[in-house]
Amino acid sequence: MDGDGTPAVIGKVSARKILDSRGNPTIEVDIAAMDGSEVVGFGRAAAPSGASRGRHEVVAFPRGGVDEAIEKVAKLVAPRLIGMDLERQQEIDALLKELDSTSNLRRIGGNTTVAISIAVAKAAAAAQGLPLYRYLGGEGATALPYPLGNVLGGGAHAGRMAPDVQEFLAIPVGARKFADAAFANSRVHRRVGELAGMKDKTFTGGKGDEGAWAPNMGNLDALEVVARACEEVSGEVGFEIRPGIDVAASELYDEKRGKYVYEREGIARDAGEQIEFMLELIQTFKLFYVEDPLREDDFRSFAELTRKVKGCLICGDDLFVTNVARIKKGIRMGAANSVLIKPNQVGTLSDTLAAVRLAKEHGYVPVMSHRSGETPDDALAHLAVGLGCPIIKTGAVGGERVAKLNELIRIELEFGANARMGELPLK
Ligand code: PGA
Ligand code: ZN
Repeated sequence: MDGDGTPAVIGKVSARKILDSRGNPTIEVDIAAMDGSEVVGFGRAAAPSGASRGRHEVVAFPRGGVDEAIEKVAKLVAPRLIGMDLERQQEIDALLKELDSTSNLRRIGGNTTVAISIAVAKAAAAAQGLPLYRYLGGEGATALPYPLGNVLGGGAHAGRMAPDVQEFLAIPVGARKFADAAFANSRVHRRVGELAGMKDKTFTGGKGDEGAWAPNMGNLDALEVVARACEEVSGEVGFEIRPGIDVAASELYDEKRGKYVYEREGIARDAGEQIEFMLELIQTFKLFYVEDPLREDDFRSFAELTRKVKGCLICGDDLFVTNVARIKKGIRMGAANSVLIKPNQVGTLSDTLAAVRLAKEHGYVPVMSHRSGETPDDALAHLAVGLGCPIIKTGAVGGERVAKLNELIRIELEFGANARMGELPLK
């Protein structure tokens, strides 16, 4: 509702091509909220993009790329959206899917629909004079997420001599304030850079796509460095910081051999050996978080690892792709205990919301996540708070990453005395 109580409608929809953090083209959408002939709000949203995408994600753009997406917005989508009540998010999202008419959004593109969908929510919030987190989460949304920050990386995000494991992460589980947690992660990042330089004499300070250091180093050395940095910084700041990893195991899996191939180490592991290896890493390095330890269709091995593990989140990214049907299957089988939430994997805000709700209902921890290719759009910060996700995965440093972290610092200050950190299990 706008000031006089009548619902604002979509007055204008426009899309343009902008750069993402890798310098690749992506889409940005503007939506104007109108009351009669008066503009009463504005929403702008940009879509991120992945480098190690799950096979079951929606398609990011139509075959003609961002240019075709922009044309589709102008010709196919905008004429149908104009005049719709901005608060009818579900109807709008359903219409986007209907206009696309494919099962994986390949006609309009999931990046196109997600940018429209989030821009709609931002415009609706603006028309009501509310921050997006409040519009989405109501008065009860006062919990800040724990930041999960990428501090050392390899795999598809870095060069050839970097570790096979895609991401080595830090999470300040003992922090009482979001700002303290975010600064703790940046300290861990800095310390990891120093330690990496000591271990790898060829290290020139190179970074991967998410701002994490990319040294010439094996997986175990990398884990040692990150675990040590977490411990040292924990001592300095006075609260616990734990390490985690995103294996992105589908990227390592060789279908023909039926094995996970660790090229850097010259080792190949079958599913059973991979599970044992993960259990060993979790125990040795006290990992708090392990994402995609197994390939994206192996629900059964995910379930076996989840059964055997104690005190560690096992999160599905490529496994679930923010898709309700896949999350339901995981719940049925006991695969994983945490779900990565990437809005552009599924293409609309309503579907993102449904995924978070389902995860929470079944005790699966939802982790709101960026992509490796990002923009300075800070909507992710609002989604984490508004949807009540206790963890946000959005890097530790770099402009497009700190855009989200800094917005959360602002939100924490807005909450004042009511601010609190989310509920983190296993602490
Ligand atoms: P992506 O990967 O954004 O490059 O797909 C990030 C992740 O696997 O979590
Ligand atoms: Zn991942």
